[in-house]
Amino acid sequence: MLGPVILAASRSDRMRRFVSAAPGTKQVVDRFIAGETVDEVVPIVEDATAKGLEVTLDVVGEDITTVEQSHAARDAYLELIGRLKELGLGERAEMSVKLSMFGQALEGGHELALANVRPVVEAAAAIGTTVTLDAEDHTTLDSMFAIHEELRKDFPQTGCVIQAYLFRTEDDARRLAAAGSRVRIVKGAYKEPASVAYQDKAEIDKAFVRIVKILMGGLGYPMIGSHDPRLIAITQDLARQAGRKLDEYEFQMLYGIRSDEHVRLSAEGHRMRVYTAYGTDWYGYFMRRLAEKPANLLFFARSILTK
Ligand code: FDA
Repeated sequence: MLGPVILAASRSDRMRRFVSAAPGTKQVVDRFIAGETVDEVVPIVEDATAKGLEVTLDVVGEDITTVEQSHAARDAYLELIGRLKELGLGERAEMSVKLSMFGQALEGGHELALANVRPVVEAAAAIGTTVTLDAEDHTTLDSMFAIHEELRKDFPQTGCVIQAYLFRTEDDARRLAAAGSRVRIVKGAYKEPASVAYQDKAEIDKAFVRIVKILMGGLGYPMIGSHDPRLIAITQDLARQAGRKLDEYEFQMLYGIRSDEHVRLSAEGHRMRVYTAYGTDWYGYFMRRLAEKPANLLFFARSILTK
């Protein structure tokens, strides 16, 4: 019940101001956000890669309102890629981007987002890594998939995300499960209407399994983004049944969530990539993490009240 309320609040400027200013917020934000600057995130990347983990880095931000902000987003990724190059971490760290942060929702936003993301994908390729386009709310997805297709003409390794809660996703998975593709499947983190998305957790889980089956049976590289132990076990079975070796798919989890599991799966020989978000515009990302687990909200409320 609380999840949809928190997701609605994630779009409210008033709540943004309240949450950002509340004493005690930082302590909770720090659990999910790896720092505010490149300098703060670099040691976290070094630590993760030293443990045998891989990372995908997300400079947090979305729902920007000016073209200048979209350019700043592009430049933040280019700065990050420059640092990864200096440190020789290019092959262990990929990038995740939200096209809304690159201007997708502004006027002429489809072209603007493509123009902003292209140099990022190009710079990533130059250091031996790649970019995955995150999936945002359902109204943005046709544009995201079109940009993904366009980028793949020059950079076929560019990945994208699909969301199990959407009715459309099984068809998207079939289309995307082709040779050379990289597709992350997740349950889905936005507030979506019943006209386009399953609302029931069990239905979403069943769809997730059907989609993993499609991806494992296809020719692409599936990336399984979930912390759900049952779905992880089912994925392992489906991968075995499809005859996939351990390096022919990967698991992905979020920084700060089930960290023991990151290490355990990696020690079992799985490729485990930790989605590591950093930056100052953390509000939307943080609120989605609160919505996923109501206990986080209690922890958050307690930390505000005890400050
Ligand atoms: P579920 O929510 O059922 O959680 C399973 C268990 O994991 C919980 O019982 C709890 O123990 C733990 N857990 C999960 N979330 C937690 C949290 N916030 N705090 C504490 N514990 C938590 N979504 C999207 O719409 N677009 C995207 O591009 C992405 N990208 C993405 C990348 C990666 C690597 C991951 C792992 C997830 C995403 N997501 C996403 C988010 C995704 O859609 C989903 O909301 C979360 O992963 C939570 O779903 P789970 O599959 O983990 O299951």
